[in-house]
Amino acid sequence: MLLLFCGNTRVIENEETRFVSHLLSQMTIEEKIGQLVQYSSKEELTGPRVSNKGIGIVSDVKKGSVGSFIYVDGAQRTQELQQLAVDSTRLGIPLLFGFDVLHGYKTMMPMPIAMASSWNEDLIKKCAQVSAKEAASSGLHWTFAPMIDVSRDARWGRIVESSGEDPYLNAVVAKATVEGLQGNSLADTLTIAACAKHFAGYGFAEAGIDYNTAEFSEQTLRDVVFPPFRAAVDAGVSTFMTAFNDIGGIPCTKNKDLFTTILRDEWGFDGFVVSDWNSIGELVVHGVAENKKEAAFLALDAGVDMDMEGRCYRNHLLSLFEQGSVTEEMINKSVERILKIKYRLGLFEDPYRYSSIQRETVGVYNEGTLAVSEDMARESIVLLKNENDILPIKTQNKKIAVIGPFANDKDVPLGTWRARAENYSAVSLLEGLESRLNGTKDIQFAEGCRVVNGEVHYKSLLDIEKNDRSGFTEAKRIANGADVVILAIGEHCYQSGEARSQTDISLKGLQQELFDEIYKVNKNIVVVLMNGRPLDITAINEKAMAVVETWFLGTRSGYAIADVLLGNYNPSGRLPISFPRHVGQQPLYYSKKNTGRPEKKGSTSIYQSNYKDNKTSPLYPFGYGLSYTTFSYSEISVNNSQFRKGESIKLSIKVSNDGFYDGTETVQLYVRDLIASITRPIKELKQFKQVDIKAGESKIVEFIITEDDLSFWHRQGGVYAEAGEFVMMIGPNSENHQTKTITYDI
Ligand code: NOJ
Repeated sequence: MLLLFCGNTRVIENEETRFVSHLLSQMTIEEKIGQLVQYSSKEELTGPRVSNKGIGIVSDVKKGSVGSFIYVDGAQRTQELQQLAVDSTRLGIPLLFGFDVLHGYKTMMPMPIAMASSWNEDLIKKCAQVSAKEAASSGLHWTFAPMIDVSRDARWGRIVESSGEDPYLNAVVAKATVEGLQGNSLADTLTIAACAKHFAGYGFAEAGIDYNTAEFSEQTLRDVVFPPFRAAVDAGVSTFMTAFNDIGGIPCTKNKDLFTTILRDEWGFDGFVVSDWNSIGELVVHGVAENKKEAAFLALDAGVDMDMEGRCYRNHLLSLFEQGSVTEEMINKSVERILKIKYRLGLFEDPYRYSSIQRETVGVYNEGTLAVSEDMARESIVLLKNENDILPIKTQNKKIAVIGPFANDKDVPLGTWRARAENYSAVSLLEGLESRLNGTKDIQFAEGCRVVNGEVHYKSLLDIEKNDRSGFTEAKRIANGADVVILAIGEHCYQSGEARSQTDISLKGLQQELFDEIYKVNKNIVVVLMNGRPLDITAINEKAMAVVETWFLGTRSGYAIADVLLGNYNPSGRLPISFPRHVGQQPLYYSKKNTGRPEKKGSTSIYQSNYKDNKTSPLYPFGYGLSYTTFSYSEISVNNSQFRKGESIKLSIKVSNDGFYDGTETVQLYVRDLIASITRPIKELKQFKQVDIKAGESKIVEFIITEDDLSFWHRQGGVYAEAGEFVMMIGPNSENHQTKTITYDI
């Protein structure tokens, strides 16, 4: 064995280059190909099983025919496998261990759609730091996160993993997450490499059907899909993952424009690209490669460096090389990129540095990590409706009925992609309330209707009971005698997520009926939603006194919800995605075009771009969320109403807290380019600021506007702003603002 130690903890770039080229010069072609191969552990599959015919995983490790594993974790297990790789192979090149740590490893943070609802960049970063620390302590080097696909169709299950519909908000989350996961140095044993996924356009799967084709223009690709990925590159993300879908007939896994021309040549990305699960092999199924051998060629040629579970590189690259279709130069490039990341992680210095049984047990899943999750859970909650100020629950409301299939569920709040969280380890809503109230109120609980039992596993397809109404009587009985009813409904966490597309986004099973029955005996209903996508809640929204969106809030869910319901915390979350009135509105997003026949309020003409059987607007718009206090906005003042390229102007607005609670407001700035060379959205979020304002006080919020805020992509000349008038909109959400028109000159 010839292990090459770098010996110096300070990674200087040319040392890295020297080290990697020296190592590369000693590698055989077989060893090089081995670095491009990733296997999954046998027991855990997060995609369809791929044939292992003729493959011995252990013997492949010993031969140096594997560079990385997905779903092998734990200090001891990673240590053992690493030892096999290091001790048995000629050059002792360490393995890279990757895992889906989307929102926590042991301590579950809220799901990404929930974290995005906090609009709190610093806290998102902190959550990522905690997740990285826990994962790294269990021997992991790499996570397949952040998922930063702009997602606009609530039928698509993976919306729960995303940060919603807006490119700018997704970009803010991308930056914060990458910075949190990777820290200042990848070599730090408390950080791991991040992976920006899925490049690109996966969130645009047609009709919301997972893995489906995505059809959109290059303009949309550049202006809407790309910004979060560009932000991830600028934040130094180490890896990228390909998307399953095709765009314009080209499956992303063979898209050279994406992975070579744009990502590397235009954006300067210097990490490596991994395929998605068998997405190289699926090029055959897409019908763009005759066989897996051709698929291997196409993917490598496009710039995809590592084959996740596809076996295409493993089985075919050597013969492609021998027959001359793949050059050693092509293989070298990919190997170099992977070795660089291994080097940056410090694996050549000490291949076992992440696998620490001591760190794995101390410093994870403790009061500190749980407190971060709990903070984030509180900040992720969005108050959608609060009639007659039913919330926070008043002291005179002594009797509380807690009802619903999710009211005492200790599992659902953990969400999907729960890594190594223990099933059923969340604090349920009922537990949270009981703990916070500590016997001060009379709480009664009834399930009403149930989740249909199934194994709690990401492969399960659970549903809400459709026939059994036997729980209704008890639910009505306790509702009848209560001052307030808290009704926890929504969807099971495994009804959203990968491969969980739905045509019907209304409340499933008997939940609507349960609501209607309870409403007959008690009108003071506070609906607590648990769900991974915007649901059609139109019917309950009309009648419920309050609606509280909680998504899936992670380990400390129940405490956080209780704190909001009881007024220990003044809700500050804002929707990262529009809530529809009906599934027929999908895909629904605020940032639409004006069209030639926009909807006109008050007009009776039928020739308008709108629905004739329903409102066209969302039930709740992007950026929306209530507080227990109320905020008012002054007019916008501006230090100059026009500016030129290279200059900036300052917009200021006074935001006042007119209510009786201290609160946090998220002040949002939207921009519209009035006349341009191509049609532009009627508004686009360009900046936001979160401000804490005490009851009765005001704050001046300022935004500095530069060309960046007015720019869009041009086929010729790239991203720049065109001269002309722009409407600046500042307000509490995407539908409500003060406006000011400014002029930009070039
Ligand atoms: C498929 C998913 O699309 C991707 O997001 C995930 O990282 C991989 N499976 C590995 O689990």
